[in-house]
Amino acid sequence: MAQLWGGRFTKQTDDLVYQFNASISFDKRFLKQDITGSIAHVTMLSDVGIITEDEKNKIIDGLNGILEDTLNGKLVITETYEDIHSFVEANLIERIGDVGKKLHTGRSRNDQVALDMKLYVRDALSEVQDRLKALLHTLDDMMHDHLQTYMPGFTHLQKAQPITLAHHLGAYFEMFKRDYTRLDDVYERMNYCPLGAGALAGTTYPLDRDETARLLDFYGPTLNSIDSVSDRDYLIEFLSALSMIMMHLSRFCEEIILWNSNEYAFIEIDDTYSTGSSIMPQKKNPDIAELTRGKCGRVYAALHALLVTMKGLPLAYNKDMQEDKELSFDAIDTVTDCLQLFNGMLKTITFHKDVMAASAMNGFTNATDAADYLVGRGIPFRDAHALIGRLVLYCIEVHKNIEQLTLDELQKISPAFADDIYEAVSLKTCVEKRLTVGAPGEEAMREVLKINKAFLDMIEEEKEDE
Ligand code: ARG
Repeated sequence: MAQLWGGRFTKQTDDLVYQFNASISFDKRFLKQDITGSIAHVTMLSDVGIITEDEKNKIIDGLNGILEDTLNGKLVITETYEDIHSFVEANLIERIGDVGKKLHTGRSRNDQVALDMKLYVRDALSEVQDRLKALLHTLDDMMHDHLQTYMPGFTHLQKAQPITLAHHLGAYFEMFKRDYTRLDDVYERMNYCPLGAGALAGTTYPLDRDETARLLDFYGPTLNSIDSVSDRDYLIEFLSALSMIMMHLSRFCEEIILWNSNEYAFIEIDDTYSTGSSIMPQKKNPDIAELTRGKCGRVYAALHALLVTMKGLPLAYNKDMQEDKELSFDAIDTVTDCLQLFNGMLKTITFHKDVMAASAMNGFTNATDAADYLVGRGIPFRDAHALIGRLVLYCIEVHKNIEQLTLDELQKISPAFADDIYEAVSLKTCVEKRLTVGAPGEEAMREVLKINKAFLDMIEEEKEDE
């Protein structure tokens, strides 16, 4: 057992207690963040004269050595240490001797772990944004390819009005765009440095908290030391943003599963992203989409678990907060994996355009347009709606679509119908005449694609600036 305390104890910790309390099995993920934070801390300690320049250099060399040796496998993080902070400090002292004992001057594990978690979340947030960006590019490419791929649009999972695949994909583009900028918002609020808050009440050393904040790329130091060590709001916001991403992925997956079914047959998921059945030789299952939909649950669970853990905690730090890690790590891994796999699956899907268009033509998706046609001939919309309702009933009776009826049949319902009705209710007209901003008509879509391109260029530049 290697721990950072023990002076005031007369007995050894019970073994089970030690195991229950220890966090190294999961916070070893913080190695890089812990060392980065410690380097900033000792740099500041030396700049304000609490340790000498020589001591600082020895400590920094030692810390870099630990990171290097751990990454190349020379040094193994064993679970004999209570947590990653103890591992680093114990190894540092082993390496450079007593001077290593100065590392923790003016610091507590409470502000240290608050910092490590923030550094970790910042990296994870940027990684998730990168994956969202890749997905947005895929969607943008596909939208360009499918401006004239007609399909039915649905409400209540009933065919409603014709749209294009580009338009449908565009809905997801909007969702993932919001997800991306939502993460920017989380970052803006969280990017303040808790280091220097100490256990909860700051320290008596003249620490330069502005310097450590600057060294670690924060906007500045946090402004209340009690809040600094007990704030996990940013993590809850991040988990909420991750949950929203999963919700969007899950809805998309649900549609892909439906479209891939024999009944719809709109698409075929590529063999590389499908799986078979052990008993039914004919089966090709959409497991990746199903798993992504399923994994939504564990990400929501992480958000819920942390909200419950934080509820009712008195200020400031409480050990309960150690529970923030495993669930966050799991949620982060889940979302990054799902985004990557989903993007690969989406890119390789084959769209059966003919089936999609045929589906749009059957099911009276042009009924609204037929009603609008009558409005154009002077009939009030409410009456036109009723007339087309009767027309649809008639069509169902004779097993025909509106455009398959003869002019005679149409005029029995309303004498206002003329020859140009056929053009007016064709699939192409129904889609291409929808030209309000955000509608599926090609011209309207091209305007949106321009706006999307500006967004993609902007986030590209933002990342380059980092
Ligand atoms: N492993 C702890 C955590 O994750 C580190 C902070 C420990 N602080 C303490 N006062 N015991 O929260």
